[in-house]
Amino acid sequence: MSAEEAGTVPAGGFSGVAAGMRTRYCGELRADDDGAQVALCGWVDRRREHGEHLAFVDVRDRTGVVQCVVDGAADLRSEYVVRVTGTVRHRPEGTANPVLPTGEVEVGDCEVEVLARAEPPPFPVDDRRDVDETLRLRHRYVDLRRDRLQRNLRLRARVNSALRRSMEGHGFVEVETPMLIASTPEGARDFVVPSRLSPGAFYALPQSPQLFKQLCMVGGLDRYYQIARCLRDEDLRADRQFEFMQLDMEASFVGQEEVLTFVSDAVADATEAVTGVRPAQMGRITWRDALDRYGSDKPDTRFGLELVELTPVFAGTGFNAFKAPCVKGIRVPGGASTTRNQLDSLTDSAKRWGAKGLVWMKVEPDGTLTSPVAKFLSEPEQVGIRASLAAEPGDLLLLVADEWLRTCHVLGLVRLALGRPPVNEGGHHFLWVVDFPLFEAIGDDGRPVPAHHPFTMPHDDDWELLAGEGEALLAVRSQAYDLTLNGWELGSGSVRIHRPDVQRRIFALLGIGEEEASAKFGFLLDAFRYGAPPHAGFAFGIDRLAALLAGEENIREVIAFPKTQSGTDPLTGAPTPIDPAQLTELGLRVLPR
Ligand code: AMO
Ligand code: AMP
Repeated sequence: MSAEEAGTVPAGGFSGVAAGMRTRYCGELRADDDGAQVALCGWVDRRREHGEHLAFVDVRDRTGVVQCVVDGAADLRSEYVVRVTGTVRHRPEGTANPVLPTGEVEVGDCEVEVLARAEPPPFPVDDRRDVDETLRLRHRYVDLRRDRLQRNLRLRARVNSALRRSMEGHGFVEVETPMLIASTPEGARDFVVPSRLSPGAFYALPQSPQLFKQLCMVGGLDRYYQIARCLRDEDLRADRQFEFMQLDMEASFVGQEEVLTFVSDAVADATEAVTGVRPAQMGRITWRDALDRYGSDKPDTRFGLELVELTPVFAGTGFNAFKAPCVKGIRVPGGASTTRNQLDSLTDSAKRWGAKGLVWMKVEPDGTLTSPVAKFLSEPEQVGIRASLAAEPGDLLLLVADEWLRTCHVLGLVRLALGRPPVNEGGHHFLWVVDFPLFEAIGDDGRPVPAHHPFTMPHDDDWELLAGEGEALLAVRSQAYDLTLNGWELGSGSVRIHRPDVQRRIFALLGIGEEEASAKFGFLLDAFRYGAPPHAGFAFGIDRLAALLAGEENIREVIAFPKTQSGTDPLTGAPTPIDPAQLTELGLRVLPR
């Protein structure tokens, strides 16, 4: 990749851009520059002695490295900051380095000015070696010099810039919403900030701009977007940080179709800006089909191993384990060579994921099934299994029986364990998941739990179902949709409730009484009394999109200053105790633990 493609040098170079102490960047020098007088600034990357006086000093800046031939480099150490002036020349015959973009040239007759000395870095800046993550984070400023983060942060900047252009192209206006707010209901714990002027009272940091963007719609902004910082106090994982960024949007007088178009365009624009390839038209699947076929509401469609319905095959079975509301199976082509140990460990995993067990079967060369439970299955059942799964000799078949959702869920995880490609393989498979249920569960209090948030509009065809009770409510669909990429949830959104009467009805179902509703969301309900347009919106995680486009498994690799898994920052030491005087001023006292 050239420096220009990598976004490190603007098209047409830096001419006209204030150059400061340099005339050129290291990584952009090429054979065409032969004879040019240059002034370069950067860090000493590596140094190799060449005879008694001469040394090859690789100088590095944000665009790459170039070899400088320096006479008398004795006091130059790795990571010293230098300004080098000299003349670009072809490397002598046979010494070009084909893997380095600047490998055909070197800078000769160098004068080197040391701008800052440096202690030996805590780890090598060249990123061929793995370095302990805590060490990397403690010295993030050194880590940031490495290719991987340089590349990832520039990629991320290109994503942001493409998203802004895309949203503005669709007439969205960027509005900043506040950080010190009352709690938003996104389902995680709030980070809170004590108020000095109102002792005993707290602000919450926004889990998302959800309520403010809806207020923007009531306020007539029509199309809002924001690259928004969100904060959620939840357990950290590879795809979760306390603070993260959303491309957040909301639009009035539109429904689901328009939102899907806006978001698909923005994500395709960002992907194209980074990869040079526009992703294919994004497919769509209903939530129910996603679970039926992939066992997940965020299906990774880079590979097959789809779940197959087997319930009818066992309608009259005598095998107790399969007397269940739902039986499904996966066919693993050529999987018959799986060892007994591997099968036992897969069975253990399935149990950990909630299954009562996992039945495996190997298809023999003559088509018969070998399985610990084969003796419990009738001939028609065995024929039915083979036919439904289109089983071939040499295949492995894996079956689970349980409630529908649990069967799907467990086999979905089995599927991932067996087939999921590494993060940077298989291309970018975007997929919309639509028709999410309105409620994800019935809580211990008998009340339904919202699957998205309480402002989500029920599906137009399911109003009657809303009159139901208990489990029946789980069948109510919503106008909520997710965008997924390679098995990650990229974002979520919904058509919102804009009518106070409907909102009250949903709150009542959720067990949020008038008083609680008005205490928590009164300002939104009030606003809806003054003319709320129908509106819908979406938000997706920019960290997640950037990570997947960069081929990274962990969003930390696309964040300049992330937190560790345990939520700390080894660089600044945060979180830290605060001064007793500060506590007093805030009217707070820390309890002994
Ligand atoms: P939701 O809560 O689904 O929806 O969040 C939207 C997207 O934000 C990203 N995300 C995160 N990324 C990194 N770390 C986290 N801790 C984290 N939490 C969420 C995910 C997720 O899909 N207000 C609604 C959107 C709407 O209805 O318009 C919302 O925030 O990529
Ligand atoms: P059991 O009848 O519990 O001894 O189980 C017999 C076999 O069926 C074992 O291999 C179990 O792992 C498997 N099994 C039991 N229950 C289920 C189930 N609900 N779904 C799939 N396999 C099961």
